[in-house]
Amino acid sequence: MCGIVGYVGERNSLDVLMGGLRRLEYRGYDSAGVAIVDDDGVIETAKRAGKLQVLADDLAATPLHEGGTGIGHTRWATHGGPTDRNAHPHLGDEGRLALIHNGIIENFAELKDELLAEGFTFESETDTEVAAVLLGREYRRIGELTEAFRATVSRLEGAFTLLAVHRNQPGVVVGARRNSPLVIGLGDGENFLGSDVAAFVEYTKRAVAIGQDQIVTITAEGVTVTDFDGESVEVEPFDVAWDASAAEKGGWSSFMRKEVSEQPEAVANTLRGRVVDGRVAIPELESFGDEELRGIRRITVIACGTAAYAGMVAKYAIEQWARVPVEVELSHEFRYREPVLDDGTLVVSISQSGETMDTLMAVKYAREMGARTISICNTQGATIPRESDAVVYTHAGPEVAVASTKAFVAQIAALYLFGLHLARVRGTLDDAALAENLAELQAVPEKLSTVLEQAERVEQLAHWMADTRSVLFLGRHVGYPIALEGALKLKELAYIHAEGFAAGELKHGPIALIEPGQPVFVVVPSPRGSANLHPKVVSNIQEIRARGARVIAIAEAGDAAVLPFADEVLRIPLAAPLFEPLLAVVPLQVFAMELAQAKGLDVDQPRNLAKSVTVE
Ligand code: F6R
Repeated sequence: MCGIVGYVGERNSLDVLMGGLRRLEYRGYDSAGVAIVDDDGVIETAKRAGKLQVLADDLAATPLHEGGTGIGHTRWATHGGPTDRNAHPHLGDEGRLALIHNGIIENFAELKDELLAEGFTFESETDTEVAAVLLGREYRRIGELTEAFRATVSRLEGAFTLLAVHRNQPGVVVGARRNSPLVIGLGDGENFLGSDVAAFVEYTKRAVAIGQDQIVTITAEGVTVTDFDGESVEVEPFDVAWDASAAEKGGWSSFMRKEVSEQPEAVANTLRGRVVDGRVAIPELESFGDEELRGIRRITVIACGTAAYAGMVAKYAIEQWARVPVEVELSHEFRYREPVLDDGTLVVSISQSGETMDTLMAVKYAREMGARTISICNTQGATIPRESDAVVYTHAGPEVAVASTKAFVAQIAALYLFGLHLARVRGTLDDAALAENLAELQAVPEKLSTVLEQAERVEQLAHWMADTRSVLFLGRHVGYPIALEGALKLKELAYIHAEGFAAGELKHGPIALIEPGQPVFVVVPSPRGSANLHPKVVSNIQEIRARGARVIAIAEAGDAAVLPFADEVLRIPLAAPLFEPLLAVVPLQVFAMELAQAKGLDVDQPRNLAKSVTVE
């Protein structure tokens, strides 16, 4: 939700900013803008509604002057529609200062009234301009940007990352953050700021995550971090674990296509080094001693969207293996009821970005209520892991396409590792069962490659179905969250009405939706499963088929029972039932992607969405 870049150094900052914005565009793509300050203190800005390319075309036609200091922004609109005027940067101090913002300033109306009463004027409908004008007023009073920032942020409520430059201080970018991300890139004779490391990883892999309620000042020579009261803060640099090329499209037609194809690697990398001598080894969880893990009476998983579906899949596995009740709740629902939490409750959050505001607030709340928290996260240095007692990183690599794919399978893999670790510590699985499940988990990457090899079939199907207006998805047990995920992918990418149901629920209402020709994807459980769900789902298929549904079954290799009743069968390799979701999700991801492409839609940047949802 809004991408932010800042730079000070010898390079022409516009090049750095535009490169950074290109890699952050997944965070928001309603409009974009930059401000550049040269050594003589001349400040120039450019901003345009539309995708970053619109701004790039404008800048090619009307270049800005060169300057070594700059800030850049890509927007996901909150206050005020996506227009040129509402695009960032916004100006303060009569145009001497430019400011960009990610987040929502909740008390902007009251601040605006105060400033209007003092005679200040506004050009846009944004909350951000209020911060710019306020910062300008404080700069006038104080005469120094970092101190003016300190005075300004003390007046702001809500979530914000702010970056600003002032023409009187060329060579300086100041930033502040509360509840929104900001990372420093440490260079040699140059320094960077970004919403995430993708903004600058091309130039440096040395990074520092700015903590909550901190202010950072960068110059070419160094960085200073203080808290909002001016106390200096020790920073802990880390090395970015992936190369700039990982966040590039390479030869792929879209990031999504690339990321779907990277799923075997995403799972393999998440497992790498975490199975030692046939045992799960998660050193990141050392602060959770065996005694504590044995004492857990309940696990609450909090997450949103696709990440929540990963949690739903893991619920089945963790309960089966570790015999501990697991509930999965959407973070925004969890936060605003009065959940019962005690010292026997472990709260596990799942977030690819590690910045989702709903999940962040839920984690903070859980900690305040005394629960211990573990974060499953894909982004180093992100806020949610920093606010948690421990983090298990998924190593899926940067996920740029807005629709989550490889992070989803990596999240399930990480949660399964955790579940098996818990089962060993709690003594609920014997060595043979542990070894068997670990072997299944380690076989997933290769099986994912096999599923991907069959993607052409799904592609054809999607092209035949390009005019479809509604698709239903059915699943049972671990197939149920996969049905929900299949529907979500189709909604967000192809803008088609889609709904996922637990297959057993069909006869309690949804079967009324079935009419001749209605496409229904059915995730069929393995006939080898012990719960005997397979014949029940085959009966469900017959029930909808009898009412004219067009059935596309996702079934394991060799399952012949579905053949007489399905119009199409998409095959996945044999896997133990709990591991099937990791495979069955892939045809659904590919279907949604291909159908969106067949409709001529942008699969990387679907309308109205943004990758990292940093507003509640
Ligand atoms: C859907 C999708 C979203 C995210 C959700 C949580 O494809 O990507 O539903 O899963 O917004 O995001 P994270 O995992 O970053 O907390």
